[in-house]
Amino acid sequence: MTTTSGNTSTRSAVTVIGLGEMGSALAGVFLDSGHPTTVWNRTPGKADALVAKGARWAATVRDAVAAGPLVIISVKGNAAARRILESAGDALAGRAVVNLTDGTSAEARAVAEWAADQGTEYLHGQIMTIAPGVGHPETVVFYGGAGAVYDRYRSTLRLLGGRGGLIAAGAGIPAL
Ligand SMILES: NC(=O)c1ccc[n+]([C@@H]2O[C@H](COP(=O)([O-])OP(=O)(O)OC[C@H]3O[C@@H](n4cnc5c(N)ncnc54)[C@H](OP(=O)(O)O)[C@@H]3O)[C@@H](O)[C@H]2O)c1
Repeated sequence: MTTTSGNTSTRSAVTVIGLGEMGSALAGVFLDSGHPTTVWNRTPGKADALVAKGARWAATVRDAVAAGPLVIISVKGNAAARRILESAGDALAGRAVVNLTDGTSAEARAVAEWAADQGTEYLHGQIMTIAPGVGHPETVVFYGGAGAVYDRYRSTLRLLGGRGGLIAAGAGIPAL
């Protein structure tokens, strides 16, 4: 496929849910790297700049999740993240969700357990930079979750930050 940035590639599809400051930066990196990128946000207008760059707007969370195997979510709070994901219904089964929403370890584990019940693979991530730092080779992003899931999407996730990686086998720190 040819993107507006001129890249010709067969890169895998990525969905980004949540287009605040951080989610927009995440989606921008995938687009610039030639990944077919589908986006959804509660306030649709925040997708305009990304759509102008080649992103596909999904009218519903369900359509967004159905668009590809890898779903990135970055919103304000894990309660919102879970409600948004719940609205995708059975489209979540067989997908891999990478939740980059900040919160507590308990929240991360709760979303991970819920995702497992949906038949959804799940990583929880922590971005150690501000939005303009996303996509930089020195940027650190930590992940917790199954190694097999991380390994499958490693090269795609490394686009967001060249340092960091999988540091725990589960979402959240067990004692916290
Ligand atoms: N910005 C940074 O530099 C930075 C750095 C590290 C980590 N983070 C983390 O990244 C995550 C997103 O932050 P942000 O900076 O992108 O925040 P933001 O610019 O304030 O955007 C918030 C996002 O969450 C959505 N949202 C909030 N409540 C919602 C709800 N009830 N239902 C559906 N959508 C809801 C917003 O949708 P609407 O557009 O419809 O309001 C928007 O997409 C947070 O966990 C934050 O801690 C951000």
